[in-house]
Amino acid sequence: MTLLAALLVSYFSFVSKAPPVEALDNGVGRLPFMGYNTWNAYHCDINETVILDNARLLVDLGLRDVGFTYMNIDDCYPEKERNAAGDIVVNATRFPSGMRNVTDTIHSLGLKAGIYSDSGWFTCQLYPGSFQNEDRDLKLFREEWNFDLLKYDNCAVPFDEVIKEGMVGKYTRMANAIADLAKSTGREPILFSLCQWGREQPWFWGRRLGQSWRTTDDVGNGWSAITSIINENSFITWASDFFGHNDMDILEVGNGGLNFEESKTHFTAWSLMKSPLLIGTNLPTATQETLEIFKNTEIIAINQDPVVGTAVQPFRWGHNPDWTFDSLHPAQYWSGESQNGTVFMLINVEDQPADMFFSLTESPWIRAGRQYSVRDLWTHTDNGTAVRNFTAHNVPAHGVVALLLKDAGDEPAGTEPPCARPEWCMDQNGTRIDQ
Ligand SMILES: *[C@@H]1O[C@H](CO)[C@@H](O)[C@H](O)[C@H]1NC(C)=O
Ligand SMILES: *[C@@H]1O[C@H](CO)[C@@H](O)[C@H](O)[C@H]1NC(C)=O
Ligand SMILES: *[C@@H]1O[C@H](CO)[C@@H](O)[C@H](O)[C@H]1NC(C)=O
Ligand SMILES: *[C@@H]1O[C@H](CO)[C@@H](O)[C@H](O)[C@H]1NC(C)=O
Ligand SMILES: *[C@@H]1O[C@H](CO)[C@@H](O)[C@H](O)[C@H]1NC(C)=O
Ligand SMILES: *[C@@H]1O[C@H](CO)[C@@H](O)[C@H](O)[C@H]1NC(C)=O
Ligand SMILES: *[C@@H]1O[C@H](CO)[C@@H](O)[C@H](O)[C@H]1NC(C)=O
Repeated sequence: MTLLAALLVSYFSFVSKAPPVEALDNGVGRLPFMGYNTWNAYHCDINETVILDNARLLVDLGLRDVGFTYMNIDDCYPEKERNAAGDIVVNATRFPSGMRNVTDTIHSLGLKAGIYSDSGWFTCQLYPGSFQNEDRDLKLFREEWNFDLLKYDNCAVPFDEVIKEGMVGKYTRMANAIADLAKSTGREPILFSLCQWGREQPWFWGRRLGQSWRTTDDVGNGWSAITSIINENSFITWASDFFGHNDMDILEVGNGGLNFEESKTHFTAWSLMKSPLLIGTNLPTATQETLEIFKNTEIIAINQDPVVGTAVQPFRWGHNPDWTFDSLHPAQYWSGESQNGTVFMLINVEDQPADMFFSLTESPWIRAGRQYSVRDLWTHTDNGTAVRNFTAHNVPAHGVVALLLKDAGDEPAGTEPPCARPEWCMDQNGTRIDQ
């Protein structure tokens, strides 16, 4: 009996110490990763010159120093066939110096290196996929080529009778390979970026396997592509936290489909929703406006918050009734916690400028009866003190406002009405004041 009791006690103390959320904390990817990805600007037109030119520009333009530290190579780097030994072979015309030389150069620039493969028979451009070659390919990527990140796509899915496991199983094969390799080498695991496009709800299971999961199809090239991704992600903001992130896809800033205001909205939403941030433009031709957006360190600081891992989430949809799914008119009024205060994001989804008003306590992160100093994270100015509410005047069409509100003490005595949000507001003497 004593032994049984001891076993039960140790069993229950083990269970009670189990973390409430099963995020995979294997030491990498606590914060959303930031860097560059070759796909949107170059598609298959990549080679070592293009990659290293952009890598050097990450450094020379100051982008590495604000946090963009990964240089990620996307699809099309290898030959179509594996070699006789069964290994993926790099295209020697595109990479005359060899892949290890490229990653060594990337590392020598103070950057990390990312590579790409697929969980099926082939990649989306029909290069070799890693299905049934997970251990072999991972060893090549990690040990021989020395990559730090693996983006893992979702094309060329094997027949049911071959795979006999669901989407989770298909991605678990590589997650297991990563854990096994880390164990046998004693090295940090490769960062696992699941490119599973959302139809099988990777925000529920991706966190067991890797550090991020794509939530949507590939980003398109205009404003409606941005609003549709914001709209879909507005319903799953809870899924991003330390070590696990909704990946809203590569940034389209600088690729010509968005004006300046739209580009700022795009960058702000991805940052504050705690998505990985991957530059996807041709850096040799990047404009000052594009660089100004990528180098907004006050916005990046929220994305990289070391204390608060959660995302902003809508508190009011605005254009639509709350919880409306509308690809072109996503939620407009958002807030979230951060290391230094409450962050607000206001998106003008209309096609003309608008004033945008909110009561502070519409956000759950604001204390009633307090006033707040207001910092504008785009103009980089302190904009006075907000009591009860705030109005952003004349927000441009498709534009954004990002604010950091810090507690600035009690609101002025006698501020009326006695409850800022008077629903069921009552004096201690039992008098209800909202009727
Ligand atoms: C290898 O690279 C060359 C030069 O970019 C390209 O023309 C060729 O199609 C590539 N081979 C494969 C199999 O993609
Ligand atoms: C890489 O591609 C660029 C642009 O297509 C070309 O100018 C350059 O010579 C190529 N470099 C290699 C190593 O193939
Ligand atoms: C890469 O290869 C080139 C020659 O192709 C060489 O000059 C350079 O030093 C190599 N870089 C590294 C980091 O090994
Ligand atoms: C909080 O403020 C400190 C000091 O200004 C700054 O270094 C840090 O990046 C801020 N954190 C966030 C999440 O904005
Ligand atoms: C906004 O708050 C102020 C107090 O700072 C109050 O006088 C004003 O009526 C409020 N505006 C609205 C529309 O609630
Ligand atoms: C904050 O103040 C700056 C400088 O006056 C101004 O340009 C900006 O529009 C203000 N921000 C908001 C949201 O009102
Ligand atoms: C009860 O509260 C109401 C609202 O604050 C106030 O107007 C009223 O004078 C109070 N009545 C008494 C008897 O204190």
